[in-house]
Amino acid sequence: MNAIPFKILIVEDDINLNRGLVHVINKMGYQVYSAKTGEHALKLIKKHPVDLVVSDFKLPGIDGKQLLKAVKRFDPGIMVIMITAYGTVDTAVSAMKEGAEDYILKPFDMEEFKIVVKKTLEKKALLLDNTQLKRQLKHKYTVDRIIGNSHGMTEVFKTIHHVKDSRTTVLIQGETGTGKELVARAIHFNGDRAAKPYVPVNCAAINENLMSSELFGHVKGAFTGAVSDKKGVFEAAEGGTLFLDEIGDIGKGLQQTLLRAIENGEIQPVGSFKRKKVQVRIIAATNKNLEDMVEKGMFRQDLYYRLNVVTISLPPLRERMDDIALLACHFLKRYAALNKKPIDRISPDVLTLMEKYNWPGNVRELENIIERATLFEESTVLSIESLPSIFKHSVPRRPQRNIDSLHQMSKAHIEQVLESTGGNKTKASRILGINRSTLYRILKRFKN
Ligand SMILES: Nc1ncnc2c1ncn2[C@@H]1O[C@H](COP(=O)(O)OP(=O)(O)OP(=O)(O)O)[C@@H](O)[C@H]1O
Ligand SMILES: [Mg+2]
Repeated sequence: MNAIPFKILIVEDDINLNRGLVHVINKMGYQVYSAKTGEHALKLIKKHPVDLVVSDFKLPGIDGKQLLKAVKRFDPGIMVIMITAYGTVDTAVSAMKEGAEDYILKPFDMEEFKIVVKKTLEKKALLLDNTQLKRQLKHKYTVDRIIGNSHGMTEVFKTIHHVKDSRTTVLIQGETGTGKELVARAIHFNGDRAAKPYVPVNCAAINENLMSSELFGHVKGAFTGAVSDKKGVFEAAEGGTLFLDEIGDIGKGLQQTLLRAIENGEIQPVGSFKRKKVQVRIIAATNKNLEDMVEKGMFRQDLYYRLNVVTISLPPLRERMDDIALLACHFLKRYAALNKKPIDRISPDVLTLMEKYNWPGNVRELENIIERATLFEESTVLSIESLPSIFKHSVPRRPQRNIDSLHQMSKAHIEQVLESTGGNKTKASRILGINRSTLYRILKRFKN
């Protein structure tokens, strides 16, 4: 049974050919109607919605071209394939201009007919697919511009809703490019203090010596170059949100001062004796494993507990394959519009390739690939050809059965599984259904 139960109408006045075509379509597993004239065809279409019309060009009464126009007027979504005996490609081309999807020149064999029908239906399936994706995008699965339909992202959206109106400190963890900054902004701008300031600070980019002054401000004369009083980011964020990005990169000294500021809700500008109260919600983010850093003594445990009152863990893209098509369509829409390209669909083999890739750079990498591909694509469908070759070559390809030996096939399979687990042999052996020592033995054998 086919995945989509397409309905097809055959319009052919030659009784034998009509029967033959109906038989082939039936065998392909689709529902089929048949008509011998254009007039009968139009009546049928109005009664039974069809997806594809295959029509002869020369018909008694209204001819194929008139039928084509009438069908497209009735429903532009119905696809049409024209059959013509009048061997000139010109007639066929003029039909294509009127909106036919493809044509077949008589005489043809049934294999050729099947290929053309299959190709056209694939195109139809793709259109349906993309329309559904677009519909999903419009409705449920977004908070702001954060796209995701996977279980992991649905949990993230729930947490955003729970914390957005509170003053709770939130820690966002996740690999590079998973959308930590996007989530921080969503929490602030969807919350009831959205009109108050949102102040992002990249802790990794600030010199450790200047960090205290950046965070808490300084008074005139506090140090050389402090020519006037200056407010720090805590004060600048008063009433709103302070986003401490790359929090895992700050030194021990600052960790302590920060802890005090968060615990007491008070700051002390550099060079000042006075403490000031501040009302700021803190959101911190890092791509480092803070728990690990605490264990290794690199991050203060008390600060860690202060920060992770609520933790949002953004799953890496390779663990939410369900989101890839949604994200790819979202970025295609954005960059096609930005670059004024008429690309409105993504070829299914591009999506298949993307679902096999490991995505070390996560959503940022996917966004960059689509942006680049949009520039290179010449047609209306984003195709494999427009993807960067580095990406194409890093996707593990399936071994060709007829050439590869069993040894080569299992080697390729194991390598593919290992790649999907990021080299984690324990996880890989679980997926492969063998124990770890067996996996080590096999890997050793491959090396020799
Ligand atoms: N779920 C998503 N939906 C739409 N766009 C996303 C999503 N996740 C990430 N992006 C986009 O990917 C890019 C990277 O996201 P962001 O800067 O938030 O990542 P990050 O986790 O802060 O990365 P880094 O650790 O490298 O700073 C941005 O352009 C962002 O808009
Ligand atoms: Mg970031």
